[in-house]
Amino acid sequence: MSEPKERVLSSLSGLEAGSDQTGNGGAERTPAAGPRGWAFAKCLVALLLAFGADWVVPNCARAEDEVQKARVEAGRFWYERYCVPCHGAGGAPGKAVYRANKQPVDLRTYVQRHGGAFPAADWIAAVYSNNPAGTHSKVWETLKRSQGIGQHPEFGARGVVAVIADYIISVQTK
Ligand code: HEC
Repeated sequence: MSEPKERVLSSLSGLEAGSDQTGNGGAERTPAAGPRGWAFAKCLVALLLAFGADWVVPNCARAEDEVQKARVEAGRFWYERYCVPCHGAGGAPGKAVYRANKQPVDLRTYVQRHGGAFPAADWIAAVYSNNPAGTHSKVWETLKRSQGIGQHPEFGARGVVAVIADYIISVQTK
């Protein structure tokens, strides 16, 4: 993968050495090394941008994909543990119904029903419920108790709910 970059680098340094008749790596041309050194550096940067970018960018993208996949997997695990008692497997309707109209909650259409982009504020309001009368207050207490970190019980719990969000995003059908 890194071969093209290495080839560019070695051919560049070959050109430099070939034009240097002293054969000592140019150590005696110090006065001229200023402008030439600049040109070389600029060329190197340009070539690295041209050849390096197509190597670096896909690798970064792949690493990001891997991280995202791991988040979704973790989210599925926690969703099944904490949310499936009321919501269905894979976000499908379970026994949870809206208080207002008694319709089943389908989390597979959550994003579309909330304007097409993941509604972080709605999600937080729904799940991070410190109101004892809230639908999710009990599961939020359980999350804080079982996932909390020391003096900051919310930290670990929020992390878990965040990966559950990644999972829910991954199961959207619309
Ligand atoms: C005790 C049952 C119960 C559990 C456990 C539960 N929920 Fe819910 N959930 C509900 C009910 C009931 C509603 C509908 C609330 C309403 O009337 O708006 C709901 C609604 C939601 C909504 C809003 C849906 C929408 O269409 O706007 C989200 C998001 C949600 N739940 C996420 C979760 C997540 C994430 C978990 C796990 C951490 C979870 N729920 C666990 C009962 C539950």
